[in-house]
Amino acid sequence: MTLILGLEGTAWNLSVAVVSEERVIYEAESTYKPEYGGIHPREAAQHHASELKNVVSRALRGAEGEGFSLEEIAAIAFSQGPGMGPCLRTVATAARALSIYLKIPLIGVNHCIAHIEIGRWQCGTKDPVVLYVSGANSQVLAYRFGRYRILGETLDIGIGNALDKFARYLRLSHPGGPKIEELASKGTKYVYMPYVVKGMDLSFSGLTTAAKDALDLHQHKKEDICHSFQETGFAMLTEVTERAMAHCCKDEMLLAGGVGANRRLQQMLKTMCHDRGARFYVPEAKYLKDNGAMIAYLGLLMLKSGDTTPIEKSAVNPNYRPDEVEVTWRDVE
Ligand code: ATP
Ligand code: FE2
Repeated sequence: MTLILGLEGTAWNLSVAVVSEERVIYEAESTYKPEYGGIHPREAAQHHASELKNVVSRALRGAEGEGFSLEEIAAIAFSQGPGMGPCLRTVATAARALSIYLKIPLIGVNHCIAHIEIGRWQCGTKDPVVLYVSGANSQVLAYRFGRYRILGETLDIGIGNALDKFARYLRLSHPGGPKIEELASKGTKYVYMPYVVKGMDLSFSGLTTAAKDALDLHQHKKEDICHSFQETGFAMLTEVTERAMAHCCKDEMLLAGGVGANRRLQQMLKTMCHDRGARFYVPEAKYLKDNGAMIAYLGLLMLKSGDTTPIEKSAVNPNYRPDEVEVTWRDVE
């Protein structure tokens, strides 16, 4: 059987998985938790460097425990970008060393596309419009003519970062998204927040500023502010996703990325899809956030289409955009 070892460590989560064509065989991870504030790239990279040996060993031993032999590992896949430079470089160095030592191919994968492909695999959706929402990214994408095209995206920060920043202001620890969701579920009153959609693009940084003002200047309750923050930001995302579906004539929608775990966002998208007779798909939460299985799985698809990465082309790219990737593993429609 063909197995792939996948290494993910673009930001806060170091995760290593062994995947076959049939299933995720074993996954091991170690999460960097900042003592205060947000993710410091150098500290996160230091965390990954000290944990890599342990996490890789756990993943390999786990696969053996499932009855597989390490000889079956056919390639090493790693996140080539986008992400934090120091974190990317640390994990890429480990991937190169493993590839050289085991004499098997190296496969540099695009982290955003990995989020999409694991969702398609786990949910069995063929050709969806994708809403990819995480800390650093907020994009609406669809596959057209050999590439994942970005139909709309944030012009400043990702929705996850906007939520995390306001959570930090409320002195809540990282990651803030789940804590804002909890507070929002107790909010009842809508307070004004800027709704910024420009064509197919979005802007979220004004939401964080408005939320801080609503707290300090207007003394609204934090539950109401969190509720209003979510209602506004998620409505913006739902509007752009719906327009993408209409323009591309697609009747499937897939949610990807860490913010996808939010139940209110899921509910809004589900309602929108239901109203237009489309199907809504969301994978299990462990495949929404950053995980090694998605890197291994995209590596497997790429290996099958002969798409490997020579060492001299394996430099990381912190700004790697999904539309730079020529999709070799899907049919051109
Ligand atoms: P990427 O490199 O793809 O940008 P990332 O490093 O931001 O990924 P993810 O795990 O995809 O990592 O997403 C993390 C983000 O998801 C954080 O901003 C976190 O606050 C947010 N998040 C997690 N759960 C929830 C939730 N229930 N509601 C809202 N946001 C959430
Ligand atoms: Fe991610």
